[in-house]
Amino acid sequence: MSNTNSIGVFDSGYGGLTVFKSIIKELPDYNYIYLGDNARAPYGDHSFEIVYQYTLQCVEWLFAQGCPLVILACNTASAKALRSIQQHVLPFKYPDHRVLGVIRPTAEVIGAYTQSRTIGVMGTRGTVNSESYPIEIKKFFPDVKVVQQSCPMLVPLIENNEHLTSGANHFVKKYLDELFLQAPNLDCILLACTHYPLIIPKLQQFLPTNMQVLSQGAIVASSLVTYLKNHPEMERKIGRTGYKQFFTSGDPEVFDNRASLFFGENIHSKQMKLQ
Ligand code: DGL
Repeated sequence: MSNTNSIGVFDSGYGGLTVFKSIIKELPDYNYIYLGDNARAPYGDHSFEIVYQYTLQCVEWLFAQGCPLVILACNTASAKALRSIQQHVLPFKYPDHRVLGVIRPTAEVIGAYTQSRTIGVMGTRGTVNSESYPIEIKKFFPDVKVVQQSCPMLVPLIENNEHLTSGANHFVKKYLDELFLQAPNLDCILLACTHYPLIIPKLQQFLPTNMQVLSQGAIVASSLVTYLKNHPEMERKIGRTGYKQFFTSGDPEVFDNRASLFFGENIHSKQMKLQ
């Protein structure tokens, strides 16, 4: 019988699709299940405890669907829930399962993208307040200064497809001004929210042309390639029939309509029923 296990890809909603797209580009043959917790998104302003509970519930659901490996394609969940799941849940309940996030792979390579050794991080309040990026980047690049800006209006603008309109200018400009006020010499902006790649054309209207604007899809995909090479015992568990399924805890019709904006092609999702 062929192996039907999949790699699980999780986000609070749509943003993880930007990462999923890059993963599929690098690793098209594996089976995947994408889950967006749209019914409870956005996660950006929820407490640690709530993001942990929601993320764990979704991860356990993906495990139950036959995903021995789950990628948290969400900075907020990676910042607030990943460590607790890795340290306090997996060893006791699921010793053969693994959950990986997006923060560490980004921190590992980000030093290569700045000459002024100064990086601006844009993210949700949850990601910024967790201080995960300054802490992780310091481990790999102690010489790099990290300034952060929380951008709570960007996810709602993007999810409502208003992010490229003139109405978005006010918030984009405000967030960039606040970032540059903290570090006028920064030369790399990390989009530390998987929704934000969609707003790059608008950011570029307000940025000098030589500014590096870094999104995470390709970084996370390449780190997954390395992970699977280094962990053949996990790699062998994943089926390779190129099967992709999409689930949302919200309304599948709404999800399918908006998801194509993030994924670049039509999606047919099914409902994941929250217990
Ligand atoms: N896409 C999520 C992230 O990368 C944020 C969206 C949300 O606030 O739920 O942080």
